[in-house]
Amino acid sequence: MDRNTLPFLRVAARNRLRERKLRRVLGPDLGRPVSWQATDNPLVGETAAIFESSHDVHKWSQYFEAYDAVLAPLRDRPIRMLEIGVFRGGSLEMWRKYLHSDSLIVGVDIDPGCATFDDPDRNIYVRIGPQQDTAFLRGVIDEFGPFDVILDDGSHVNSHIIDSFTFLFPNALADSGAYMVEDIHANYWWTHADQPATFVDFTTSLIDAMHAHYFSTVGEQLFHAGDTKRETAIQVPFATTIVGKIEFYDSIAVIHRRNRDLPRSIFRA
Ligand SMILES: C[S@@+](CC[C@H](N)C(=O)[O-])C[C@H]1O[C@@H](n2cnc3c(N)ncnc32)[C@H](O)[C@@H]1O
Repeated sequence: MDRNTLPFLRVAARNRLRERKLRRVLGPDLGRPVSWQATDNPLVGETAAIFESSHDVHKWSQYFEAYDAVLAPLRDRPIRMLEIGVFRGGSLEMWRKYLHSDSLIVGVDIDPGCATFDDPDRNIYVRIGPQQDTAFLRGVIDEFGPFDVILDDGSHVNSHIIDSFTFLFPNALADSGAYMVEDIHANYWWTHADQPATFVDFTTSLIDAMHAHYFSTVGEQLFHAGDTKRETAIQVPFATTIVGKIEFYDSIAVIHRRNRDLPRSIFRA
């Protein structure tokens, strides 16, 4: 048996189970099989326009909607952006063209060849190391963080995405910042699925974490300001206090760090 056959068979079996469960959970209307036609619609949006005039960028067309939604409100001020995965440097150039001219753009990549894209005169920095190495990431945070936007376009290996997220989201993302993870399709491909839990599975735990203050409480009055039964403090995972919003597009997710000034139940981090 070829060295690659076993992981391929394992992931194929997992995906078959996933598909079966999906159809069951979706029910007869949402789950009925249909033929989905490929279309080649023109790209829309500002990041798409920059992409089309750029070279050496590696992006799927559906990502531009997410980029525009996250980045457009941040364009009128200097921000700090971290992208995991530099490749040929094209996406760093794209962000340079799109973001405020004083924004700081940091790329990290495991490939030492990417160091050639380090360009401090233009506020573009590249650091070389593995995205799953928290000591390396700590150095990047100490040198450049905290970041307003983090984009994971690195190895796309399930465990790497989760390791980077669990370290960077709490330690490197600014208040109200956005953490994007792209190429989520690779979660389902044997080439990248090094463990059964995908990043998508992980985000269901993040959704649970957003609601962890309801695990040990029952009743609205516990959350009413002024009510004698009101809970004033409760033990929750740190994630409960900082995950504000989770958005999914096809193959790209955006997890927003909570704006501390927005009310959320009765609790404040
Ligand atoms: C899809 S490419 C990045 C494309 C680039 N962001 C763009 O849009 O043009 C993925 C990059 O991740 C890098 N990479 C792979 N494994 C990595 C790891 N464990 N840590 C950091 N970077 C990694 C690869 O060297 C490659 O340059």
